[in-house]
Amino acid sequence: MAVDFEGLFAAARAAQARAYAPYSRFKVGAAVLGDDGAIYPGCNVENAAYPVGVCAEAGAISAMIAGGGRAIHAVLVLGDGEELVTPCGACRQRIREFAAPETPVAIAGPGGIRARLSLAELLPASFGPANLRS
Ligand code: THU
Repeated sequence: MAVDFEGLFAAARAAQARAYAPYSRFKVGAAVLGDDGAIYPGCNVENAAYPVGVCAEAGAISAMIAGGGRAIHAVLVLGDGEELVTPCGACRQRIREFAAPETPVAIAGPGGIRARLSLAELLPASFGPANLRS
């Protein structure tokens, strides 16, 4: 399946604008391309009880599963600032559940895609569903 990075960027940009981040003031948007061909957006949703907040990637993955997608073909994460907004460790594992080692994870800023990594680069020697099969 060809990856529509422009579509992923547009979806993540729109989601970032809707992020609920009153505590960190760091709005993140994400979008995943599902195996059903649909693009699922997500944004970070913080909470007054700080650890309860959820990342943009987690929201996008939940939207994919609820929408009928069962595998991730590509991910795009978008945030502001000079540093690349790469997925946190927990979100790398969340992506891992539904993606292949070579699945692209694009890192974007407001102006466009800044870097493209594979899931295996972000999370080498990872643990996944197959590890539970004996
Ligand atoms: N955040 C994400 O949503 N995704 C990332 O990849 C990095 C961090 C959020 C969590 C928190 O709401 C805010 O950014 C600051 O860490």
